[in-house]
Amino acid sequence: MTAVGKDVEYAAKLIAEGGVVAFPTETVYGLGANALNPNAVAKIFGLKERPSFDPLIVHVADLDSINKLTTSTDERILKLAKRFWPGPLTIVVPKSDIVPGIVTSDLETVGIRMPNHPIALELISKSGCVVAAPSANKFGRVSPTRAEHVLKQLPDVDYILDGGKTTVGIESTVVTLDEEGFIVLRHGAITHADLSEVLTPSSAKKPEKNLISPGLLKSHYSPNKPLFILGETNKTIDPTRAGYIAFGHTPQGNYKDVEFLSEKGDLVEAAAHLFEKLHAFEDSDVDYIVADPVPETGIGIAIMDRLRKAAYRYNNTAE
Ligand code: TXA
Ligand code: MG
Repeated sequence: MTAVGKDVEYAAKLIAEGGVVAFPTETVYGLGANALNPNAVAKIFGLKERPSFDPLIVHVADLDSINKLTTSTDERILKLAKRFWPGPLTIVVPKSDIVPGIVTSDLETVGIRMPNHPIALELISKSGCVVAAPSANKFGRVSPTRAEHVLKQLPDVDYILDGGKTTVGIESTVVTLDEEGFIVLRHGAITHADLSEVLTPSSAKKPEKNLISPGLLKSHYSPNKPLFILGETNKTIDPTRAGYIAFGHTPQGNYKDVEFLSEKGDLVEAAAHLFEKLHAFEDSDVDYIVADPVPETGIGIAIMDRLRKAAYRYNNTAE
């Protein structure tokens, strides 16, 4: 049985000894192990039931770690890090030899991020390691924004560090660089416009062949019951069986239950609530979930990316 608690020293010791610990970041909870210990990293893939083609992000607590993890001396990396770290930005860079292939799915690149959370930073510092960590959910399922969500999906992890509810609520923006500029591989709280304040965007929409982001599947973040986005489904909805995730208005109709992403239509608040509300309806007695779409501006792009992937398998079945 997993222990849940607030003992950072103990968690750091577990990581240093090759164990696996779930910990809070500002985005979602991560499932961490010593990134330079292949056996420890293998445990992450086992617990998550994650396919080996999906690479992990390496979490650092200081800027010096960048130089250990990459062979690149591209000054744009430091420019991004100094502007957005600690924070919800993962920078994909050419990897150095010390990063084991299991971390990067044998890609030549590694994703690095410094999370903006005091517990995460303390954990990384005290463990004396750089920490490989995917989101602490079973592969393909809803990401965790609370320790309880981790416990629900991963009861066998060595320890869960409880830091309460995460603030940003969706995973980091993943960015890489080509000769021309930056390319966003996964949308998040740090938007294209934010990145454009520091670097030029590349005209390429996707990176060159060996720089693709293998984790970006069409179906992901799926709740354990059907999810439909209003206006994007042709299924007929019986409101009396549905939980409604509302944005910017109070739903009319006889819905079984209603949760708000943001009553006042605030996208940052909506992002913070998205996975939270999906978990709430997973655990409630509604038969399925319907969600309002949100405007695709700013962090709204990341919200719709997650919602569409979460709904994908339920809108692309034969039934
Ligand atoms: O906010 C976050 O990023 C959270 C917290 C725990 O830091 N972590 C997270 O990890 O979301 P994960 O494993 O669920 O998602 C990592 C994403 C995947 O889509 C993966 O394909 C991409 O980052 N990625 C990682 N390394 C990469 C690389 N070398 N090249 C391209 N994409 C990479
Ligand atoms: Mg994930």
